[in-house]
Amino acid sequence: MRVLITAEQIQTRIQELGAEIDRDHPTGPVYLIAILKGAFIFLADLARAMKTPSRIEFVGISSYGRGKTSSGEVRLTKDLDVSIEGHDVVVVEDIVDSGVTLNYLMKVFAQRKPKSLRIATLLDKPERRQRPVEVHYVGFKIPDEFVVGYGLDYAEDYRNLRDVCVLEES
Ligand code: IMP
Ligand code: MG
Repeated sequence: MRVLITAEQIQTRIQELGAEIDRDHPTGPVYLIAILKGAFIFLADLARAMKTPSRIEFVGISSYGRGKTSSGEVRLTKDLDVSIEGHDVVVVEDIVDSGVTLNYLMKVFAQRKPKSLRIATLLDKPERRQRPVEVHYVGFKIPDEFVVGYGLDYAEDYRNLRDVCVLEES
């Protein structure tokens, strides 16, 4: 396990992202919709870094299975409990990898006629992209390495680490 991004770097960057989202959404509420489970810690810090009022919602998507590679198959396992029609929406994700998950989710949400629809992701691995995704707020671009911590898991482990770490093959 090797530290890639420290807890301190993450917090500094999230303050900047919060300010950017505030600037783009001077009036609230902004619907922050986090993708379970990986985005839960980022969501908690991002919501508190914003001054614009927000409302918190969750969706569940399964695309990954338990390994390190995407199955390419996406399914909505938990839908929203509310309508987003006419609202400002920021989808909150831990990492954009192949883009399969967000490419699918953005199509689903766009059909529901939100006033605006954007993506905030803590991490982005642009080299791995298979489907196009327009990401408005990116915490850190990272190389093609498998990372854990700060919400991200490997087979459900390591989500509670404060830093983002590279999980090296043993
Ligand atoms: P995508 O659909 O390939 O963009 O996958 C996005 C999802 O894959 C993320 O929400 C994560 O759950 C998972 N994922 C992708 N890369 C990593 C990684 O390096 N560590 C942990 N999870 C990852
Ligand atoms: Mg995820």
